[in-house]
Amino acid sequence: MEDKLKALADEARQAIQQAADEEQLEQVRVKHLGRRGELRQIMQGLAELPAEQRPVVGQLANRVSQELDRLFAQRQQELEAAAAQAAQAAQALDVTLPGRAPRVGRPHPLMATLDEMIEIFLGLGFTVAEGPEVENYYYSFEALNYPEFHPAMDEQMTFYVGEDALLRSQTSPVQIRVMEQQEPPVRIVAPGRCFRRDTVDATHCHTFYQLEGLLVDEGVTFADLKGTLEVFAHEMFGPHCHMRFRPDFFPFTEPSAEIALTCIICGGQGCRVCSNTGWLEVGGSGMVDPNVLAMVGYDTERYTGWAFGVGVERLAMLRYGIDDIRLFYSGDMRFLEQF
Ligand code: DAH
Repeated sequence: MEDKLKALADEARQAIQQAADEEQLEQVRVKHLGRRGELRQIMQGLAELPAEQRPVVGQLANRVSQELDRLFAQRQQELEAAAAQAAQAAQALDVTLPGRAPRVGRPHPLMATLDEMIEIFLGLGFTVAEGPEVENYYYSFEALNYPEFHPAMDEQMTFYVGEDALLRSQTSPVQIRVMEQQEPPVRIVAPGRCFRRDTVDATHCHTFYQLEGLLVDEGVTFADLKGTLEVFAHEMFGPHCHMRFRPDFFPFTEPSAEIALTCIICGGQGCRVCSNTGWLEVGGSGMVDPNVLAMVGYDTERYTGWAFGVGVERLAMLRYGIDDIRLFYSGDMRFLEQF
């Protein structure tokens, strides 16, 4: 009986030490120490032993039982600690791993150009106004002094989306919306998206941006317009960039002028981009037609004003030396990541 006990104790000790995780340890406990375990069976057999052997074997059995309980508890603690450590290690931050760089966004080259244009006018005391991209006939044409059958209204030129709803083909309607809301002095720029039924090519797109400008006050002259745009050209492209006016026509301005800037590519010497003229057209401008001022209820004897509209894509292409307008809308990361 004693030998059996000792053998059992050896086996149990070993099993406890070898248990690799808490689950295995539990199996050991059931087999060796549990209520149906081998040790219990031996202890239950004590009664059948001769009386003089009982105390000796009984004591030994108790000692073994206590020892195994202790070993068991100890091993259990070790395994728990190891498991906790493993769980922590699994969560641990390895500071030597190379980081995963977040993809940082940046302004689109078109928006960066537009922002810079706006910034220049903010510096000159203008504020920013906005109008809807879906406009009606009145703001798009009628209030801007267009005659009733002007070709710009034609479905060949303008996208109609409803009975009296169209995608604005210019930002000029914002002039009317602003003037309806306030009395002079007015000094605003209006950035925005415009739409035309143009065939897409390297310099045209159905969707494009303009920056509109409007100034109305007492004693405003054509010279103020020219001076302001000249300052803009200098600020945007440097002191060697000049501005040129040539006669043009727009229904809402009289007189009207086409705006051209010194070709930034060749510095005015003449190159392929400027068709050897040294100048690049960037928009239109003029003195606001008194009919337009009258339409919004301004006193045309007291107030005069000027306005302009500049193509943002054109300026962005010059600024960055981009030769195809379609790149702006391509969403191509290889293009965008260069800015
Ligand atoms: N809206 C004109 C266009 O898209 C540009 C323009 C010309 C705007 C003269 C103006 C202006 O404000 O006065 O072609």
